[in-house]
Amino acid sequence: MTGTRILVLNGPNLGRLGSREPDVYGSQDLNALRALLTDLAGARAEIEVRQTDDEAELIHWLHEAVDHRTPVILNPAAFTHYSYALRDAAALVTKAGITLIEVHISNPHARETFRHTSVISGVASGVIAGFGFGSYGLAVEAVLASA
Ligand code: DQA
Repeated sequence: MTGTRILVLNGPNLGRLGSREPDVYGSQDLNALRALLTDLAGARAEIEVRQTDDEAELIHWLHEAVDHRTPVILNPAAFTHYSYALRDAAALVTKAGITLIEVHISNPHARETFRHTSVISGVASGVIAGFGFGSYGLAVEAVLASA
């Protein structure tokens, strides 16, 4: 499995992890997530963690995943709930036969009603939510199991 690359893409406000609503998202930041996933993957995969607040940039990263056939772990953050443009880009990935796993740190279904809808889930390979940074770890294992 050496040679596998996994893109871990994070949407808006996730660059503020560590200080953003720690009661909901914990007190660890994206660097800690990067270290955790790199350690978990070990020699099995190269992990690339990115974050943007920009919908267009996130869409371009999904296009890049299609072009390079790179599996994706995607936390679309608030875009989850309304971005049809991001959904269409995610569909490009999975329709090309590339794994894309939607992840959430919190369990959106246990929160406000507007978070109960995901426009991404219907085109994702699978969804993991509610396990803190563990959601990403489980997604790494799922990607590797499907690779
Ligand atoms: C989130 C849940 C979303 O509802 C929220 O907008 C986020 C983070 C999560 O990881 O729990 O920004 O995707």
